[in-house]
Amino acid sequence: MNIKIHIPGLPPESLPKHVAIIMDGNGRWARKHLMQRTMGHSRGVNSVNRITRFASDLGIANLTLYAFSTENWNRPREEVDALMCLIGETILREAPELKENNVHINLLGDIDRLPEQVQRNLQEGVDLTASCDGLNLNLCLSYSSRWEITDAVKAIAADVAAGKIDPAQITEDTISSRLQTAGIPDPDLLIRTGGEQRISNFLLWQIAYAELYFTDILWPDFDEEAFTQALTQYANRERRFGMTSDQIQSLLK
Ligand code: IPE
Ligand code: IPE
Ligand code: MG
Repeated sequence: MNIKIHIPGLPPESLPKHVAIIMDGNGRWARKHLMQRTMGHSRGVNSVNRITRFASDLGIANLTLYAFSTENWNRPREEVDALMCLIGETILREAPELKENNVHINLLGDIDRLPEQVQRNLQEGVDLTASCDGLNLNLCLSYSSRWEITDAVKAIAADVAAGKIDPAQITEDTISSRLQTAGIPDPDLLIRTGGEQRISNFLLWQIAYAELYFTDILWPDFDEEAFTQALTQYANRERRFGMTSDQIQSLLK
């Protein structure tokens, strides 16, 4: 991993290896600026570019962005169409620079539900950055955690029915390896912008021990400084994983 930026007081080992973000507040940002909701989404793309670049420069290994949920299909048709257009355009425009920065694009979600043109553009981005081994950028599109877990259960049930798996041998790894995030370590830090304090069907299995960080900042206003604040708070938390503080301290020695 190529580290280009060091934040004073935050050594690389204090940074999370995987940050997941619920990018919320685009609509409220637009309303605050007397604009259409879709303008908020366009401005949100700037934040995506900025934060991806910053995470990559900091040497963070994984960034997972919740861009469009299964539930978001229930929004007004015009907003869904505008979002699909924006996603399709953005990936085509940004993929070359992502490649230059060695960012690997990975898609999580029910991608088949997206319009075909958007799927083609996304695939172009994935193909273009396939050999990149810097930041792994996981874009969650038409994603929800319950959809993902249901899909994993179906796959495991099919393997059991086919005699490939003995139910008694099912472990947590059996389940993890059937999720969209197979092979990706669990998030260390989950950030939600926009002031709501809920998870909205995002990575329910994977965030079992993530540190949660909620901020009122609306996604289009979320910048390097705001991200640094989240990283600083993360670095100052003690992750105990069920153990005692003394145990953790002696492990760190
Ligand atoms: C997040 O912003 C973007 C998506 C869910 C696609 P919102 O569109 O949810 O913005 P608010 O919550 O209405 O402000
Ligand atoms: C969560 O935001 C989904 C994404 C950021 C893509 P929403 O704005 O859809 O969440 P709820 O419905 O208010 O919980
Ligand atoms: Mg919202």
